[in-house]
Amino acid sequence: MAPHKIVCWDCGRAVDDQYADTCPACGGLLTIKMDLEPLMSKRPEDLHKVPLGVWRYKDFMPADPARKVSVQEGGTPLYPCGALGGEIKIKDLWVKYEGANPTGSFKDRGMTIGVTHAVEIGAKVVGCASTGNTSASLAAYAAKAGMKCAVFLPSGKVAAGKLAQAMFFGAKVISIDGNFDDALRAVRELARGRHLYLLNSINPYRPEGQKSVLLEIMDQLAYDVPDRIVLPVGNAGNISAVHKAITELEEIGWISKIPMLTGIQAEGSMPIVRAFGSNEKDFIPEENPETVATAIRIGNPVSGRKALKAIYDTGGYSTSVTDEEILAAQKLLGRREGIGVEPASAASVAGAKKLRDMGIIDKDEKVVCICTGNALKDPDTIISSSDPPIRSSKDILSIIKILSM
Ligand code: F0G
Repeated sequence: MAPHKIVCWDCGRAVDDQYADTCPACGGLLTIKMDLEPLMSKRPEDLHKVPLGVWRYKDFMPADPARKVSVQEGGTPLYPCGALGGEIKIKDLWVKYEGANPTGSFKDRGMTIGVTHAVEIGAKVVGCASTGNTSASLAAYAAKAGMKCAVFLPSGKVAAGKLAQAMFFGAKVISIDGNFDDALRAVRELARGRHLYLLNSINPYRPEGQKSVLLEIMDQLAYDVPDRIVLPVGNAGNISAVHKAITELEEIGWISKIPMLTGIQAEGSMPIVRAFGSNEKDFIPEENPETVATAIRIGNPVSGRKALKAIYDTGGYSTSVTDEEILAAQKLLGRREGIGVEPASAASVAGAKKLRDMGIIDKDEKVVCICTGNALKDPDTIISSSDPPIRSSKDILSIIKILSM
């Protein structure tokens, strides 16, 4: 396992308590300080003996490969998207399709590391609050590890596919009468009382696995570093993890150029966008977030300060998109590229389009949009935005009549 320690992101102190979700000394956010010395003498190609996927990057990960809990996560396609790029006037546009992960979202990257760590520390019960994908992923990895799992979901606001997965993989599914932020508050309290080991992204181990999306993009582009990476922001764990991967690649000298991290939120749920708009390092939580992109319906992102630092330090940007823009981008991606993503994931494409229209993104930039989850996660949304099936009798002539309409 790569040498590492838990440290406070705010005050830098080392933290010994494996169950802490904030710094015992200052209350700050936690992170993992990796010792990357063994990588200093290596080149990216030296890791290529292992197939593309999270565990190719074991030297960047604080988990023991010999004890890994894995369902072969990562290794997702990076699609060149010329047709979509033509529509939104970005010539060199790519989509990293995280919907191709085993449970259909990027969360699997974090869970393989988080649940492996849970095994290492002897946890018996794991849990999380979730807008859906985290719970689907954790339920699968807990099943694989033979652990008990409890997931806490905002009642009535979880897309059907995600809820089905959490139930199917055998988690105890608890529907909280409140939103995601309320559910997270409850599960953090349970974790503090040691009723379960918390695997939300406030856990410093889980986001380490999520660094792998950036490491894969670099490998897939043969280290031709993109100018910009655009991704949706909800609880802000993913953009923080991508930023951490960038700083680690800089530290070991594998990159000298930094992609501009660009965080997109939904208009009804945009605390980070507001903070960015007034150049603040911290954000004001929103009480009643609302959006069709239920995955990012979050008013109080736990890693919000890390996200803002990621955006400022990389010279990136943050903007919001409306539900209409999200649904239009989702359809465009499906109809022009054959890529099916859920609404939150389409926010990245909608954001790229908006920023190109505003002139923030230049037409010659190399842009990678991270599309975080599969369209089938939320079948209701794609069904309601598509034409219904056409009813027909079995008679061939009437079928031909319909086809020639
Ligand atoms: N896209 C999808 C499909 C998501 O499920 C999430 C978060 C995000 C983007 C945002 O990522 O939170 O790291 O900023 N889903 C979490 C969940 C909150 O519970 O599944 P983030």
